[in-house]
Amino acid sequence: MPKQIKFQTPKGMHDILPADQVYYQKIYDVVFEAANFYNFGKIDTPILEDTDLFSRSVGVATDIIKKEMYTLKTKGGDCLSLRPEGTAPIARAYIQHGMANISQPVKLWYFGPFFRYEKPQAGRYRQFWQFSFEVLGEKDGVIDAQIIQIIYDILQELKVRDLIVDINSIGCDQCRPYYKKLLTRYFKPRESYLCRDCKRRLKENVLRILDCKEEKCQAIIEEAPQSLNYLCDDCRSHFKSVIEFLDELEIPYNLNPYLVRGLDYYTKTVFEIFLQEKEEKGGLEKKEVEKGEERKEEGEEERKKKALAGGGRYDKLVSLLGGKDIPAAGGGVGVERLIEIIKTQDVKIQDKEKSQVFLAQLGQLAKRKSLKILREFRKNKIKVLEAFGKDSLKVQLNRAHNLGVKYTLILGQKEALENEIIIRDMETGKQEIVKIEKIVETIKNKLKKK
Ligand code: HAM
Repeated sequence: MPKQIKFQTPKGMHDILPADQVYYQKIYDVVFEAANFYNFGKIDTPILEDTDLFSRSVGVATDIIKKEMYTLKTKGGDCLSLRPEGTAPIARAYIQHGMANISQPVKLWYFGPFFRYEKPQAGRYRQFWQFSFEVLGEKDGVIDAQIIQIIYDILQELKVRDLIVDINSIGCDQCRPYYKKLLTRYFKPRESYLCRDCKRRLKENVLRILDCKEEKCQAIIEEAPQSLNYLCDDCRSHFKSVIEFLDELEIPYNLNPYLVRGLDYYTKTVFEIFLQEKEEKGGLEKKEVEKGEERKEEGEEERKKKALAGGGRYDKLVSLLGGKDIPAAGGGVGVERLIEIIKTQDVKIQDKEKSQVFLAQLGQLAKRKSLKILREFRKNKIKVLEAFGKDSLKVQLNRAHNLGVKYTLILGQKEALENEIIIRDMETGKQEIVKIEKIVETIKNKLKKK
């Protein structure tokens, strides 16, 4: 006997079962509609790309490149990686397909899976889905604001409450080097108080220290120079315009001087959208009581932030990858995180394809005829359920009842021989008999009337 092997999804990856497909589909539909309205073209890039594409653009010192890429060598000797994000592939496609020569800006959107070898936890997966909007070929701050607005509206349309946009400007090639110098000057004398990662960041990319969540670093970061105070005139007026557009759109935002993002290609605007979530501290309170420590006040709540979306401007990415000097901006949303929120906020997502008709059959001839009847219904775009594996009429009628359909069609042996079919109204219990060739038309009319 061969040993039984239990296969599971790889760690941090998950199946999307039929019950969850409705969420993905609903999100896709809302994104699709918004993308069409704002005239974005859909693009699909390969799941695998040249590893260098990501290390060059996302940055060799970032966590994504240092620790999180799934990289493989092909039989031909190419070094490829599962895409950890989508913006670099978009810039690559823009260059490869000569999109700089068509009417600007080029507006693109995508919806697909991404891969990061991260420590799996709630809302953090090794394969996750993202949808994103990218605009290449326009430097005006209206684009930054419009991307935030489109994403914000999509989240609102999906009935996500308590959204807040964190926004910052991290400057450009002109002003950022000076700001980084100031940061280094500030952190260097405090190096011994920083965490191990921040000591490394001080050498590799000092900006990333601002992103550190370690408590001991937090206190030092709070006193650090803030980029907004050191922007050049161009970056300052750009940021001012983005903020003014957001004010005009009445989108709530929070100027976050420590927002730097985990990818190196950003210039000027960076943003993240959070859900401000109230979380009971029940577990913590219980532990504290057990330890005999002072009990926290009952019902105390904590505002906990979760990044649902992130993005910003990336004016140097196309040229960094060998293209022309093309300004660009974009933003992406994590679909799993969004679904988790939709579920916890108890937003109702309707399966719009709920069927109203069930076809029950009895006997071989009826089963044969049922196949043809179903095909006719499909041609007429009427969804009909069945239970071909069940031969008992009682079981089939029970199933129809549990499914909550409006009509059950019953094709017994006698009806099949006489080319007739029974329509049972599940609400009133009334039954009528019609010729099989009239069944689709009759049901169509009944559904129209209801
Ligand atoms: P990102 O912030 O790395 O940006 O990812 C965008 C969103 O994807 C996050 O806010 C989060 O919701 C989701 N996400 C990221 N990692 C995971 C994970 N391991 N598990 C579940 N969800 C995750 C980017 O990827 C940029 N390419 C966005 C962008 C587009 N910038 C300009 N254009």
